[in-house]
Amino acid sequence: MTGRFIVIEGPDGTGKTTQAKRLADALAGAGQRVIQVREPGGCPSAERIRVLLVEGEPGDLLNWTEALLMNAARHELVERVIRPALEAGQWVICDRYYHSTLAYQGGGLGLDQSKLEALIEMATGGLEPDLLLAFALTPEDALTRARERDDEEKRFEAREDSYHARVRHAYADVLNAAAERGETAEIDASGSVEDVAERVKRAVAKQFQDAF
Ligand SMILES: Nc1ncnc2c1ncn2[C@@H]1O[C@H](COP(=O)(O)OP(=O)(O)OP(=O)(O)O)[C@@H](O)[C@H]1O
Ligand SMILES: [Mg+2]
Repeated sequence: MTGRFIVIEGPDGTGKTTQAKRLADALAGAGQRVIQVREPGGCPSAERIRVLLVEGEPGDLLNWTEALLMNAARHELVERVIRPALEAGQWVICDRYYHSTLAYQGGGLGLDQSKLEALIEMATGGLEPDLLLAFALTPEDALTRARERDDEEKRFEAREDSYHARVRHAYADVLNAAAERGETAEIDASGSVEDVAERVKRAVAKQFQDAF
């Protein structure tokens, strides 16, 4: 019996973290064994790496250091938590995955795509999601939501506007390419938390008839 690996991706402030929790709760409520993790982080060693990545100033790390740390954290999470959970037949809800690396370190920082893909392969051992939920929201709405959030993790947000525009475009390309390979559901992330949660549930139920 093997578990189900669901990844939520989409630009900052689209509601990924909010909906990851809602989905995990809904699946648990339906009697599924489910864990919820986030990237970077999701286990103690990777959460320590996360602090290096998300706190401080944009210039604190060299670009490839950022990419290497992201993938070091990803490797810890995949091998220590995600793969064992899937092998034990659990559902895994993951808030961001390697698509974020292609958008932020690839599109945003301009790092070489094929080198990043090789690094991702090393970090994940080729583990692909069974379903990718690609959240879509207008940049204006996403920015309003992201600004409402109050936290210490400002290193990425502190970058200039042109960086965020490059990330947005790269994200769209990465998620479109994933959709062409299948197992992707684009989720309209506008409207209330309740509305979006309902769309997510429908997409999951469509992909996995035994979910709820
Ligand atoms: N449907 C919604 N309507 C209004 N506000 C929302 C909605 N979903 C989430 N929010 C709020 O918007 C903010 C951003 O949401 P959340 O942190 O879930 O987004 P995210 O995609 O995880 O962002 P990031 O990529 O920056 O981690 C939070 O304050 C959250 O409470
Ligand atoms: Mg989040």
